[in-house]
Amino acid sequence: MKAVWIDQPGGPESLYIADRPAPLLTPGSVRVRVHATAINRADLLQRRGAYPPPQGESDIMGLEMAGVVSEVANDVHTISVGDRVCALLPGGGYAQEVVVPALMAAKIPANMSFEQAAAIPEVFLTAYSNLVWLGNLRQGQVVLIHAGASGVGTAAIQLVKTLGASSIVTAGTPEKRDSCLQLGAKLAINYKEEPFVNQVKQYTNGQGVDLILDFVGAPYLEQNLKSLAVDGKLIIIGTMGGAKADQVNLGLILARRLQIIGTALRNRSLEQKIQLTQEFWTFAWSLFESGSLHPLVDRIFSMEEIAFAHKYMEENKNIGKIVVTID
Ligand SMILES: NC(=O)c1ccc[n+]([C@@H]2O[C@H](COP(=O)([O-])OP(=O)(O)OC[C@H]3O[C@@H](n4cnc5c(N)ncnc54)[C@H](OP(=O)(O)O)[C@@H]3O)[C@@H](O)[C@H]2O)c1
Repeated sequence: MKAVWIDQPGGPESLYIADRPAPLLTPGSVRVRVHATAINRADLLQRRGAYPPPQGESDIMGLEMAGVVSEVANDVHTISVGDRVCALLPGGGYAQEVVVPALMAAKIPANMSFEQAAAIPEVFLTAYSNLVWLGNLRQGQVVLIHAGASGVGTAAIQLVKTLGASSIVTAGTPEKRDSCLQLGAKLAINYKEEPFVNQVKQYTNGQGVDLILDFVGAPYLEQNLKSLAVDGKLIIIGTMGGAKADQVNLGLILARRLQIIGTALRNRSLEQKIQLTQEFWTFAWSLFESGSLHPLVDRIFSMEEIAFAHKYMEENKNIGKIVVTID
């Protein structure tokens, strides 16, 4: 099968299309002919050799895909050949074929394209697991979402609204801030202009927010802690700005009963990923079908343009997801 491959870790130019062995069908699984995949920050790290795939998983990049089921194992009765599905993957999505556990494959609404469906699994499951499982988000609460126009951010803004809470975001350009407001954010802060904590405090009448989804890490830690309300939670989802914080005021955490929670989707157990997939799609299927939730697709590249797609993300240009079609 055709797959995107690298011989050595490197820049976007090291990506090329190669012939790789198709994965073997295993009990409980289905084979999918992939039509679209999407880019994630983790792929950029993996390409540079800084984020190896979990042991035993495909060494081809790609954490999600959408396509058509082409073969099912004998013990699978919930999915049939010809079904249109999408799924979160531990790797292998930048290829013509993947094999996934049937319980991880979600049937996609008839009105949804493969390009849209491929943009859902990684960012919506990340946002949902952090808001609902870890953040325990309640109606009326306020969430601060950093990198609001990122793939995960654009999913989180919509989920927060659907769950009856409201969001404040930070984003680096006027176009990104506008998109976040259109998706339902109540306030979009230009973090390049002033410390975000000032506007967070002003918007919440000095109280602070109940939950923060953070992808930036160390440079934001102090402001994040100051932005939280009593009993607030900071969820560290990424460390794009750095992982090592010089100083943490533990007094602030103690006095305000704050919680700092780390999260990683890729290394969760298969059982947890199945539980998350099933719970999320039960919650979201009809919302995607009606259009109340939608994946925000910024650009669609062909498989041959994969290097441009990686470069586009590396330059922080995307608002929402970058999708790649697989022919
Ligand atoms: N823990 C998990 O399970 C998990 C799962 C999925 C994703 N993630 C992480 O979530 C983050 C977002 O992923 P994504 O695919 O949604 O990203 P994305 O679509 O590529 O968006 C990232 C955006 O973050 C902002 N940014 C980049 N570097 C920054 C910095 N140093 N300081 C402030 N803002 C910065 C940029 O927007 P601006 O122009 O607004 O600055 C950039 O466009 C990544 O760190 C990714 O690794 C974690």
